[in-house]
Amino acid sequence: MKVYVFGARSGGVGKTTVSFNTLVATQLIAPPPPGLLDVFLECDFGRQSAVHLWNPHFLEEREASPDSYPTLREYLAGVAEPWEIAYSTSHPAYRNLVMIPSAPLCSSDRELLKSYSEYSGKMLKLLEFLKPRCRLLVIDAPGAGGLSGLADYLLLIPLGSFIPVVQPDKPSIDEASQLVDIATLAGSAVPAAVINKYRGGKWAVSYAKAALAAGETQILTIRDDKKAREAYEAGVPVVLYSPSSRASKDIKLLAQTLASSAPAHTIQQAEKRARILSKVIEALARRRAPQLQLPDIESILRELDKLIGHEGGSDTQAQD
Ligand SMILES: Nc1ncnc2c1ncn2[C@@H]1O[C@H](COP(=O)(O)OP(=O)(O)OP(=O)(O)O)[C@@H](O)[C@H]1O
Ligand SMILES: [Mg+2]
Repeated sequence: MKVYVFGARSGGVGKTTVSFNTLVATQLIAPPPPGLLDVFLECDFGRQSAVHLWNPHFLEEREASPDSYPTLREYLAGVAEPWEIAYSTSHPAYRNLVMIPSAPLCSSDRELLKSYSEYSGKMLKLLEFLKPRCRLLVIDAPGAGGLSGLADYLLLIPLGSFIPVVQPDKPSIDEASQLVDIATLAGSAVPAAVINKYRGGKWAVSYAKAALAAGETQILTIRDDKKAREAYEAGVPVVLYSPSSRASKDIKLLAQTLASSAPAHTIQQAEKRARILSKVIEALARRRAPQLQLPDIESILRELDKLIGHEGGSDTQAQD
């Protein structure tokens, strides 16, 4: 099983568009082998736009009867099992594609951090459940629509390889570079970084290369394309809505790059990364007692630096 976490703390850069379309484009290149699924784990606890792209009717049905549609939130709250939150569709374009939807999780970053160990353990259990059944797991992390906090990323980054998605502007690239630093220090691979809504010009590519490249990272661009916006409005992934559009071609290239990229991490490595981040949170909380304060990125990086001295750093070689 390969696991990719697509993310950026800037809102609206295209995380959901890029992550969901990459999964669908991977299916267009080759469906999963018999007996295996491709899974989309929507971790945007704010706006469920991936579900909208996957099956707009699902959202309507869920609104009419929320209790019949448990989500990741109910799983994390301990009232739903993994198999109850995985939904399939009869859409003919999707080959064994399963969606795990989310719903608003916590009211604050602080609340999420308090439950960090519990949630992190449950996310790892979910990976264990999916592993024998899944070829590819794509995780869509929240931006401004979610808590937009670091806590979401501390929970999600350990789970797999991290793929930052940015717009071609300096603030968006700078914010993503901090997440890349956390990912690499914790030991997650960063196989690709995506500049979405790209309008040409070399500066964004060179700037992203300098800021986001970690080891084997490839910088890929997805062109700004009105077809991507149209498809989104229509509730359809652009690679199906307009397969020959510029955005679709670029997304297919990203899917191909990931399909041929180095193998993913093992669950044990995900556990190790989650353990490291858990210690970071504990150390920061101890220092700021009595109230667990929101960590800032610099203190997380400093704490990580100290810890990896003891635990060892990147571990991207082993195969799942
Ligand atoms: N390559 C592109 N060209 C043009 N428009 C795009 C492109 N990619 C995404 N968009 C548009 O940008 C908007 C935001 O996209 P999307 O919801 O995927 O971003 P996001 O980063 O997931 O947002 P959020 O932070 O709310 O989770 C949508 O209207 C979408 O159609
Ligand atoms: Mg989104």
